[in-house]
Amino acid sequence: MTGTVLITGATRGVGAAVAALLAEDGYQVFVTGRDPEAAQQVAAGLPGRGHRGLTLDVDDPVAIENVLSGLDELDVLICNAAAYVDWTESVLAADLDAVRRVMETNLYGPWRLAQAAVPLLRRSARPRLVMVASGAGSHGDAMFGLPHRNGLAASYGISKAALLALTSTLAAQLADTPILVNATCPGLTATFDGAEQMGARSVAAGANSVAWAVRIPDDGPRGGFFRDGEPVPW
Ligand SMILES: NC(=O)c1ccc[n+]([C@@H]2O[C@H](COP(=O)([O-])OP(=O)(O)OC[C@H]3O[C@@H](n4cnc5c(N)ncnc54)[C@H](OP(=O)(O)O)[C@@H]3O)[C@@H](O)[C@H]2O)c1
Repeated sequence: MTGTVLITGATRGVGAAVAALLAEDGYQVFVTGRDPEAAQQVAAGLPGRGHRGLTLDVDDPVAIENVLSGLDELDVLICNAAAYVDWTESVLAADLDAVRRVMETNLYGPWRLAQAAVPLLRRSARPRLVMVASGAGSHGDAMFGLPHRNGLAASYGISKAALLALTSTLAAQLADTPILVNATCPGLTATFDGAEQMGARSVAAGANSVAWAVRIPDDGPRGGFFRDGEPVPW
């Protein structure tokens, strides 16, 4: 496969590992993140040529406009960057200013990115738009889903539920185009302290679950939510 892919929050964790997988697939990767040096370092370490490290804070509409308007082409957008919250945050005690910041990163950032990227994706022969969501934003995840956390990590789950709704709604708007819009979940992945003790899987495995939505064929699914290629009810 060849083409260009832009990944947000690709300076570490799942995003950096997805960058490595897609570079191995033959993509030219735009590694983006808030830390310019880290973005360039990840890009420099990828196999293949032409990769770039770009500064992009998804909370910043001007940065989104500047980065996307600087691209001549784009085949794949992966909205991976996310804000986490204190796991003890509850609906009733949450600081709504903090909630708004979470929504900025996890919902409005991807929304703005989609608006900026779709004109480029429309010119691609094999366009894909991937939202990295979470079982925490679904009703179908038996361990971390919305009804299974005693109402905790509230804004994270609610922001990811809204991201799933955005995915479905955008896919409906783009139904008559070749752009395949889907959401994926990496599963519980060892990107944070203590994750392995919780049973998290490797970062490569989590990244593979995200890359799946790029590798699907042109007649593949639209508007779905998947983990390891299997639908997750949401
Ligand atoms: N790990 C899991 O178990 C798990 C499970 C389900 C879903 N997910 C989802 O998978 C995705 C990747 O998670 P991860 O575990 O790899 O997370 P991570 O290790 O915390 O990495 C998050 C990345 O997002 C970046 N980021 C945060 N805010 C940003 C912003 N405003 N603008 C641009 N970049 C920003 C971070 O950059 P900085 O270095 O600048 O902070 C970092 O590169 C997320 O969408 C997450 O919700 C993860």
